[in-house]
Amino acid sequence: MNDFNYYAPTKVVFGKGAEQKVGNLIKEQNCKKVLIHYGSGSARRSGLLDRIEAIFDKEGITYIELGGVVPNPRLSLVYEGIALCKKENVDFILAVGGGSVIDSAKAIGYGVANEGDVWDFYAKKRVPTACLPIGAVLTIAAAGSEMSNSSVITNEDGGLKRGCNTDLCRCRFAVMNPELTYTLPDYQTQCGCTDIMMHTMERYFNMSENMELTDGISEALIKTVMKHSKILKEHPDCYESRAEVMWASSLSHNDLTGCGTDGGDWACHQLEHEIGGMFDVAHGAGLAAVWGSWARYVYKARPERFAKFARNIFNIQETDDEKAAVAGIEAMENYYQSVGMPTSLCELGIHATEEQIKEMADKCSFYGKRTVGVMKKIGAPEAAEIYRMANDKSIPLYSR
Ligand code: NZQ
Ligand code: ZN
Repeated sequence: MNDFNYYAPTKVVFGKGAEQKVGNLIKEQNCKKVLIHYGSGSARRSGLLDRIEAIFDKEGITYIELGGVVPNPRLSLVYEGIALCKKENVDFILAVGGGSVIDSAKAIGYGVANEGDVWDFYAKKRVPTACLPIGAVLTIAAAGSEMSNSSVITNEDGGLKRGCNTDLCRCRFAVMNPELTYTLPDYQTQCGCTDIMMHTMERYFNMSENMELTDGISEALIKTVMKHSKILKEHPDCYESRAEVMWASSLSHNDLTGCGTDGGDWACHQLEHEIGGMFDVAHGAGLAAVWGSWARYVYKARPERFAKFARNIFNIQETDDEKAAVAGIEAMENYYQSVGMPTSLCELGIHATEEQIKEMADKCSFYGKRTVGVMKKIGAPEAAEIYRMANDKSIPLYSR
C-alpha cells in the first residue's frame, strides 16, 4: 500500500428534511452576508429555494442571490459572481444545486479571495492561496463536488473545460436530502450514476499493488450504484436507492477510494473534458461514451487489473486474464446501454470530424505539453486514437 494523506473536512448532514438545518449550519460559519448560488431553475421549481429563503428570513441571515449556472458552468457567470460578491461584501457562498453550481461557487470563491484573473488557476498559470468558504445543498448525486477538492469550469472563449484542485475549496458543509433528487429526469440520474462509478473506477485502474481494503470499498461502491441505478429507472422515488446513490456520490470523490493507490488513471475524465468543452454534453454521458474505447486501448498494459474488475464486479468466471478483461469491458458497456447511457460519441449525437478529433486530442495534451493516464501514457496521438475508436459506431463494440 502506498503512503497517503486523507483529508475530508466537509461536515455532512444527510437525510430527510436535512435542508431545514441550513440556517444553523450557516450561523456556525459566523458570516455576515451569504450569496445563494443556483442553477437554471430546478431548485426554484421544486420549492427548495423558497424554503431556504424562508429559513434565512426567519433566522435573520442576510443574503443575495445569483442563479443561472448551466451544466458545464461558464466562466462568464463566474466573473459576474466575483464582481457581485466584491460589491456586496459577501463572505460565504451557499451553492444550491449539483456539481455545476458547486463548482461555479468554488470558482467565485477563488476569484473573490485572490487578486487577478481567476481563469489563471484553471489554466494552471498560478495557484490560488485562499477561497471564500462554501457550503452546499445538493440536488443531484453525481459529481461529488460536495466533498471533493475540485472545481471544473468551461471558458466559452475557446471551449476549454478545465479543473482546479486544491483543499481550499472543499465545502464546509454538505446538506444531502435524497428526497431532493426525486425530481431528476432519468437521464440525469443515470449520468450521475455513471460519473459516481467513474470517480472510483478512475482510481481503481492504477498501477499499484496490495490494496485489499481500498479495492473492496471500491468494488462495493460500484456494485451498489449499478444496482440502484437500475432500480431508479423503474422507481425514481425509491428513497433507499436515492440515498445509497447520494452517499456513494460523496464517498466516490472524497478520495476514500484512492487511499493507498498511486492516485489512479484519470485519462477518461481528461478525455471527456475536451468533449464537454467542445460539444457541451452531460459529463456522465461523455464519460460512458469514451470509457469502453479507453479501456480497450489500455487493458493490455495490465490485464490482471481489468480481470479483477471483471471477476469482482460482474462475476465473470473466465480464468485467462486477457479474456476476462475483455469480457469485463463488454459487460460494463452492456450495463451502460441497459441504463440508456451511450457507449460511443455517435450515440451522444456527435459525429466528430478528423479535424475536431485532432483539436480535442491537442487540447487534452495541452498541445503536446502533457500526457494523461498511468496505465498507458496518453498524449495527443493516443488521445486521437481513442476518440476515433469512440467515434466510429460502425466498429462493433467487441472489437473496439
Ligand atoms: O440548473 P438546474 O435547473 O438546477 O438543472 C440541473 C442541470 O440541468 C439539473 N438538476 C439538478 N438537480 C436537479 C435537477 N433537475 C431536477 N431536479 C433536481 N433535483 O440537472 C442538470 C445537471 O446538473 P449539474 O450540476 O450540471 O450536474 P452534475 O452534478 O453532474 O455536475 C456536472 C459538472 O460537474 C463537473 C462536470 O465536469 C460538470 O461540469 N465535475 C465536477 C467535479 C468536482 N468538482 O469534483 C468532478 C466531476 O468529475 C466533474 O468533472
Ligand atoms: Zn466526473
